[in-house]
Amino acid sequence: MSSPAPARRVLSGMRPTGRLHLGNYHGALRNWVELQYQYECYFFIADWHMLTTGYEDTSLLQEHTREVLIDWLAAGLNPGVATLFIQSHVPEHAELHLLLSMITPLGWLERVPSYKDQQEQLKDKDLGTYGFLGYPLLQSADILVYRAAYVPVGEDQVAHVELTRETARRFNHLYGREADFEAKAEAAVKSLGGRNATNYRALRRKFQEGGDTEALQRAQALVQSNNRITVADRERLLGFLHGAGVTILPEPAVLLTATPKVPGLDGRKMSKSYGNTIGLREEPDEVVKKLRAMKTDPARVRRNDPGDPDKCPVWDLHKIYSDEATRKWVVEGCRSAAIGCLDCKQRVIDKVVEEIGGMRKRAQEFEDNPELVQRIVAEGAEKAREAARDTLDEVRRAMHLRP
Ligand code: TRP
Ligand code: SF4
Repeated sequence: MSSPAPARRVLSGMRPTGRLHLGNYHGALRNWVELQYQYECYFFIADWHMLTTGYEDTSLLQEHTREVLIDWLAAGLNPGVATLFIQSHVPEHAELHLLLSMITPLGWLERVPSYKDQQEQLKDKDLGTYGFLGYPLLQSADILVYRAAYVPVGEDQVAHVELTRETARRFNHLYGREADFEAKAEAAVKSLGGRNATNYRALRRKFQEGGDTEALQRAQALVQSNNRITVADRERLLGFLHGAGVTILPEPAVLLTATPKVPGLDGRKMSKSYGNTIGLREEPDEVVKKLRAMKTDPARVRRNDPGDPDKCPVWDLHKIYSDEATRKWVVEGCRSAAIGCLDCKQRVIDKVVEEIGGMRKRAQEFEDNPELVQRIVAEGAEKAREAARDTLDEVRRAMHLRP
């Protein structure tokens, strides 16, 4: 029977786009670094995802994968705590993707907003492929193969997690049934023992009749924390809360990343495709040069023209990097023209150079020692595969691909 779904597992992935920039750092990576100390985290390089749009030229895949890995380590992802790996090293993702593809209506994939959007945006590429249509389902397999509880992503990925939830629901509905489920579930409730059984029944009723999700969570906690029941009964009790059957693939929740706006040098969002980035491990001299040339409030043509921080992208950087006192100094000095833009920028420059300096230092060890990086992802893949294999054992059995 099934093993308990890990309650606090986190999974996220990133495409190997090559060297990361401060937008990637403040938009995702910094958050992952914190999460790794609070949850059991799995982070992977989505190299197969890269192929869904970049299949024509794959020549840079190795280099870009290595660069992103080193950036991760430089940013503070800790392979002693989090599991770091490369998607294509864990073939279980592909097997689950194939199995899920059997039960996924085409309409679900065609309706994913990024499908049409990306085809519009990347007009120079032929994205009329099977792989591109299926890529949100590959993402679902990425998540479900670890039975992750949480997926830290930005707003743009929420629809993909929603598809994952629907897919899990459908899978559980189709394959999570036992012939005599109700009777077995009732017996499992009894085995919880007097007061716990009564509590479980009351909470289940509250959830089923009133949709009380707090009651659901309390019931789940009650089941999870009971270590006298068998693993199989625990799964039944969790499934019975929804009235369905055994939950083989739990539905993940989005952990929406609170992301500050990271402006690029031209004031637009920092993005590789705009060529307006500051690299995570950029040369300090280059950082200084770039930031000194960064766009400011256009109203400040001359030194004594007052400005408005709200119209200046440098101000968005102060919001990330500066303390209260400095921010007050900026607002007052900008509006009264008491400070010049270069004075203002210097405060940000100091912080960015310091931050990047730390990353450059951490990266050096890995740059000097390529085998170290190899070893980290080899171990990561081993650990990831262990978890993924457990899920697939159950999935295969539930689908009667195994006795
Ligand atoms: N699609 C994500 C992106 O483009 C990357 C990704 C792939 C991912 N699989 C995932 C993110 C699973 C979270 C979970 O950014
Ligand atoms: Fe922007 Fe600072 Fe110049 Fe004001 S003083 S326009 S906030 S750079």
